[in-house]
Amino acid sequence: MALRFVHCSDIHLLDLEGVGVHRFLNKRLTGGVNLALGRRKSHAPHLFDAIIERARALDADRLVVTGDVTNLALEAEFELVRRKFGEAGLPVTVIPGNHDAYTKGSVRVRRFESYLGAFMEGDRQSGHDYPFVQRFDGAALIGLSTAIATLPLYATGRLGHGQLARLDAILEQLGREGIARIVLIHHPVMDGVAKARHDLLDLDAFKQVIARRGAELILHGHEHVHIEGALAGPEAEAVVHGIASGTSLSQKPGRHGAFSLYNVAPEGIARVHYTWDGDEFIAGGETLH
Ligand SMILES: [Fe+2]
Ligand SMILES: [Fe+2]
Repeated sequence: MALRFVHCSDIHLLDLEGVGVHRFLNKRLTGGVNLALGRRKSHAPHLFDAIIERARALDADRLVVTGDVTNLALEAEFELVRRKFGEAGLPVTVIPGNHDAYTKGSVRVRRFESYLGAFMEGDRQSGHDYPFVQRFDGAALIGLSTAIATLPLYATGRLGHGQLARLDAILEQLGREGIARIVLIHHPVMDGVAKARHDLLDLDAFKQVIARRGAELILHGHEHVHIEGALAGPEAEAVVHGIASGTSLSQKPGRHGAFSLYNVAPEGIARVHYTWDGDEFIAGGETLH
């Protein structure tokens, strides 16, 4: 067996320590604090603890988190996330989301990378942070960043020409080696899924890379809703799974707190999807791609 991992996203752990100093100087942060306080009613951090516990009980090799680990990209939030990942009891892979680049200042000091770099170890091209590649027996996780600081009320993302060119080369090489390529990206990658001002600005260019090189699985978060689809590849389609927020208390269809267990093996990629029913995570049926 190549790789058995749990995927979750958008855990949005909140710690407002130290925010008072900054918020009066920073409009973006002041608006964000109000949003984050509102989110406290709809998200519960203990669900992330429950995901970690289940991941260990399910014998997962690894936990994969596709961004928005914080709300405001504050030091205190990253500190909390780093501690939770460090104490998880299994290896963690993370990529950033737009909330992890909430302010220009946090991007300038590379706060996400400096706190969570230990969970993004892998092969890189000529010193670039992204994509990073974590290789396993017959499978690879390819971590992308769409995280850019945006104007208030915007939650857009961008990969950029350089990162897309590096992704193209990586997918080509791994594809040639017959490795199962699992692409991690925060923003949705299918048309019409992201709300206005919430989208990936260079989505078309990303889709062209996948159409040219292919991928076995693309995992994302961001919209806090369950999504299933596929992108065109050169031979087979690339399966796309978007997952709802791991810490969501919503009871609306598709918006329940969720995680998925993946088993990557030569015969295919099997998935069991788990949703929060108010008391615990309940397993759905297994699907195989
Ligand atoms: Fe989010
Ligand atoms: Fe997001």
